[in-house]
Amino acid sequence: MTRPASAKTLLRVLAGEAVDPPPIWLMRQAGRYLPEYRALRARTPSFLDFCYAPKIAAEATLQPIRRYGFDAAILFSDILVVPDALGQVVRFEAGEGPRLDPILDRAGFERLKPQIDLERLSPVFETIGRILETLPEETALIGFCGAPFTVASYMVAGRGTPDQGPARLMAYRDPELFAALIDRLVEASIAYLHRQIDAGVEVVQIFDTWAGALAPGEYERWCLEPLRRIAAAVSPRVPVIGFPKGIGARLAGFGEAAGVAGVGLDSGVDSFWAAKALPRGQTTQGNLDPLALVAGGPALEAGARRILDAFRGRPHIFNLGHGVTPQTPPEHVAALVELVRREGR
Ligand code: CP3
Repeated sequence: MTRPASAKTLLRVLAGEAVDPPPIWLMRQAGRYLPEYRALRARTPSFLDFCYAPKIAAEATLQPIRRYGFDAAILFSDILVVPDALGQVVRFEAGEGPRLDPILDRAGFERLKPQIDLERLSPVFETIGRILETLPEETALIGFCGAPFTVASYMVAGRGTPDQGPARLMAYRDPELFAALIDRLVEASIAYLHRQIDAGVEVVQIFDTWAGALAPGEYERWCLEPLRRIAAAVSPRVPVIGFPKGIGARLAGFGEAAGVAGVGLDSGVDSFWAAKALPRGQTTQGNLDPLALVAGGPALEAGARRILDAFRGRPHIFNLGHGVTPQTPPEHVAALVELVRREGR
């Protein structure tokens, strides 16, 4: 007999229930810190080809679940498949990160497809189906996309930048053009997430990794409002976790303003402050420093305990404040999962 979906702890917590111990999963839980990932990855030189190979992407998704028994799996893919499916040239150079043909002006924007090519993303939906064939029944499956501002920051600069300067400058100099790009991404994200949900994901997370770079006023327009539109479209179907990294005190009102079920906290946020400042029933997620996980030992234990103490009695999902880094010793992840399950009650 299959258990009702509500038995999955991640879904219970996103519905507002405080669960002890809290469910745990980690952003970038599939990746280069795992030897089995590196072995799988070595067989496919192009990272995008790797993301678009359903068997391989499903296997990468499941590797950390087998090893650690996390409460959630996150679809293995990347946020930059959306610009790829909008017709922008996207490449991943080994050791250098993503490279895109930058959108410099209106003509560059006009070269994008008017609508996202969901056919190109069909391998992603097939990956979801394959994951569900073997995912343990207590494990939730999370789908995701990048938030419009974060994705736009790569589309405009053509690469990662220290301060997202090119995108922020376009937003100041030509707000109409930037708004058109953000609108295109809002529509593309909604269509893409609906198809992920059709294929079986039970939760979606929207990564706004660079929201913290936005000045007041710009933040409302380019982070909050686009997220609100996406959440309004998909949250009648599945709970949405918003992750507006780096926005500091603006987190206090973020969940309500964006209309998301869960608020992701980055490592710079004091957990005790968040537990006080965010509304009582607001589900939170986070926020251990990924470097505490690299260090292990007392740093890991103190960091994890602080988070457990701060959020005890509140609906919370244990996670890092950003992704697992490649130099993380796999045994530290096992120690963290064990500690959270032992002491998180
Ligand atoms: O969390 C997971 O386990 C799911 C998979 C996932 C990846 N990227 C796999 C990946 C998710 C959710 C992402 C999101 C993502 N991708 C974000 C937002 C969150 C964040 O981490 O800030 C961003 C900004 C990207 C864009 C991106 N993809 C960059 C900048 C890079 C290169 C940097 C790096 O770490 O090498 C990637 C590549 C990438 N995406 C890798 C993985 C495992 C490494 C590529 C490889 O294996 O060679």
